[in-house]
Amino acid sequence: MGSERPGSQILGTGAYAPEKVLTNHDLARTVDTSDEWIRERTGIRERRIARDDETASDMAVAAAKRALEAAGLTARDLDMIIVGTVTGDLPMPACAAIVQHKLGASNIPAFDISAACAGFLYGLSISDQFIRTGAHKRILVVGVELLSRVLNWQDRVTCVLFGDGAGAAVLGPAADDGRGVLSTRLYTDSSLVESLCIPAGGSREPLTAEGLEKHRDKVFMVGSDIFKIAVKNLTSASRAALEDGKLTASDVKWVVPHQANLRIIAQVAMRLDIPLTRFVLNIERYGNTSSASIPIALDEGIRDGRIQKGDTVLMCALGAGISWGSALVRI
Ligand code: ACO
Repeated sequence: MGSERPGSQILGTGAYAPEKVLTNHDLARTVDTSDEWIRERTGIRERRIARDDETASDMAVAAAKRALEAAGLTARDLDMIIVGTVTGDLPMPACAAIVQHKLGASNIPAFDISAACAGFLYGLSISDQFIRTGAHKRILVVGVELLSRVLNWQDRVTCVLFGDGAGAAVLGPAADDGRGVLSTRLYTDSSLVESLCIPAGGSREPLTAEGLEKHRDKVFMVGSDIFKIAVKNLTSASRAALEDGKLTASDVKWVVPHQANLRIIAQVAMRLDIPLTRFVLNIERYGNTSSASIPIALDEGIRDGRIQKGDTVLMCALGAGISWGSALVRI
């Protein structure tokens, strides 16, 4: 959805990553892999792993507090909380409800988005619509994942890819200065559901002792299926966002992509004709943190001064569903 006049703008961002670092060398001691394979095929060198006593809501709250501080607001100023996650604290209720309580926010609507790696962009788009209509004014959007608890640590195809973390943004009405959310695009195509999923633990296949033994409560992925569609769909969604904003690739100062695989990002960069030097990358240090990946990278880019006020930033993400999307934001 695009518009001439921005309706919402990012007022502040924040991020949190657990302290514990798990390197490729650490993994090579427990599964049949190597630092060289992981770095060459994915660009990942290490990832963060949550403490045993840490929950997704704890990480979300840490990122949210930093975003609120950056926005100059408190939790009481919020009138909606949206959390993108597939690894919330409980199957029911929403992680956002727990975040609301821990933050000390009022009795505002708080709900989760289940769009895997695209969760933050879904949240961003939804909050933009609410602010655009005038129904809500200050919305917290969080992307948080505690994927280390839903990985089969004996499966080298998946366990080397993911990490834990949280990122957040507070959105509010745009000032009349051209800054703000210019366009968001969201898509879903369920034809690849079985290529990237957690097969059991939902209502289709409740968990049994046999399912647990077969790790059916853990992430299953056919990586090559996802790789091909990721390059194609991230490129087309990015082009759609640029068209909405009536901009070209050269107008984009920074691209903040979902950090799933450096080779996917490099191919998207080539197709969009935007040099990789204009991409904010941190996959080397965090791996794929799913819905947290874009807000963590965005926050890093803003805090280290690369992304400046007025810069046009393109974001794109794709994950399980498959769900994907893009956003064009003037910071
Ligand atoms: N270490 C060593 N060898 C490995 C590893 C590993 N960690 N993992 C796989 N291999 C082996 C395979 O078994 C295979 O061996 P074989 O040829 O003997 O059968 C070989 O390496 C090549 O495997 P491929 O799957 O073809 O490797 P590829 O180059 O495609 O890389 C990867 C695999 C990294 C998973 C890639 O396909 C990918 O990144 N896919 C996309 C992931 C993604 O974007 N996911 C979406 C987001 S996730 C979410 O939504 C929660």
